[in-house]
Amino acid sequence: MTDLDFIFSRRSIRCFTEEKVSENQIKLLLEAAMAAPTAMNTKPWHFVVIDDHDKLAELRKTLPFGKMDAPLAISICGDMQPIKRAVLERFWVQDCSAATENLLLAANALGLGAVWCGVHPIKTLENGVSSVLNLPKLVFPLNVIFVGHPAEEKPARTQFDQAKISHNLFDIGWEPVLDQD
Ligand SMILES: Cc1cc2nc3c(=O)[nH]c(=O)nc-3n(C[C@H](O)[C@H](O)[C@H](O)COP(=O)(O)O)c2cc1C
Repeated sequence: MTDLDFIFSRRSIRCFTEEKVSENQIKLLLEAAMAAPTAMNTKPWHFVVIDDHDKLAELRKTLPFGKMDAPLAISICGDMQPIKRAVLERFWVQDCSAATENLLLAANALGLGAVWCGVHPIKTLENGVSSVLNLPKLVFPLNVIFVGHPAEEKPARTQFDQAKISHNLFDIGWEPVLDQD
């Protein structure tokens, strides 16, 4: 157990109990998401909170790999409606991805489970989710995050792989010299 366990214990949870996610918890998830860094602090995001039974069913129908029976979903979207659109467009995917990871980590910290279901850049999925959620033309769904109380457990882990790291130059391997204590 380390201070970073809240990161290592975040796993994709795809099975949920019927218990609802409270309004307080939803607010905390959104606060965590909106604490993320964004390019030039543009915050080019919009969050659609979905707890309507029929809407959740429609989303599941639209997403081939998003059939999770969760009491809540949050779609994190890039909102290109504001005037400085050229600036927003440049980094909205990274900005909204940072918000998404914050939201996933917050869900884990609150004892909830969550899974990121990818939407953008698959056009058929974008069109499907936009239609279900009635998104305006310049609002693009990055993903749908299903959230609920977990009905499955997964072990904490990193997927650390030294072969994925270089030292100064790409073809020189990195080896940590660990502190002795
Ligand atoms: C961009 C992105 C799209 C994803 N899309 C899906 C998806 O459509 N359905 C799903 O079940 N999981 C999806 N995942 C979750 C990954 O499958 C999962 O993060 C990966 O297998 C690692 O497992 P972990 O989250 O438990 O660490 C997605 C993750 C990312 C980052």
